[in-house]
Amino acid sequence: MRSYEIISILPSKRKKVYKVESQGEVCILKEYESAEDAEKEMQIANKVALTGYAPKVIDHQDNLVLYEHIEGENFCEAFRFATMTDDVESMELLATRLSIFLQIIYSFTEKAVREVDFNNYVVKDGRVVGVDFLKVDEGMPYEDVASAIAFALMNSAGQYYDSYHFVYKLLDCFKLDMVDVINEVKARLKRRASQVGAKDDIDIDMLLEGLVNFDKKGVDWRKLV
Ligand SMILES: Nc1ncnc2c1ncn2[C@@H]1O[C@H](COP(=O)(O)OP(=O)(O)O)[C@@H](O)[C@H]1O
Ligand SMILES: [Mg+2]
Repeated sequence: MRSYEIISILPSKRKKVYKVESQGEVCILKEYESAEDAEKEMQIANKVALTGYAPKVIDHQDNLVLYEHIEGENFCEAFRFATMTDDVESMELLATRLSIFLQIIYSFTEKAVREVDFNNYVVKDGRVVGVDFLKVDEGMPYEDVASAIAFALMNSAGQYYDSYHFVYKLLDCFKLDMVDVINEVKARLKRRASQVGAKDDIDIDMLLEGLVNFDKKGVDWRKLV
């Protein structure tokens, strides 16, 4: 394993993630709970990195993996800023770029992301690059679309309906309608609500009703929610 110096510790949930310097370059060091986890993520990153949509693996040993550092804007921050400023163009661009990333994942790994978390993507040179592949597993694209929609609704900087342009653009990119994913979105929102103890069932039902009734052709859809 190459020698390195820790620059900073990055916020993470399941593993320890450090920004480090090694041989004069900034890299990311991930310390996994097990060597199996390290192997799993490294294999996916290696496949996807061929397309430029994942960081390259620089070195590894046991439960440690050194990755290329992806310099760019965190997708979650970009999304929150777009919803805060009601920037429809940015929301649609982010949705299109996310859909390209997701489709790359399906074609290169034949797997799905499973849990779309916007913190796991960096926007670099107009691409959404994934940096966390630990949850990637067997699954269907529409489940990822539903997962992304649930995440968008819950992480919009303003009200949940501020993310509707993102939601509808994402569906559009996958040639899906809201009815195709509504049950999956609902299941994910309910699962999340039971985990964090927020948002009761009535809120979720109202929210989904508003989504299904969203009319792109100029009706004041805010009145519907
Ligand atoms: N290769 C990378 N380049 C840039 N930032 C990264 C990279 N890998 C991880 N990060 C940052 O570190 C954070 C935590 O890493 P991640 O693998 O998502 O850990 P966890 O499994 O704990 O969520 C990410 O959300 C991202 O902001
Ligand atoms: Mg992560």
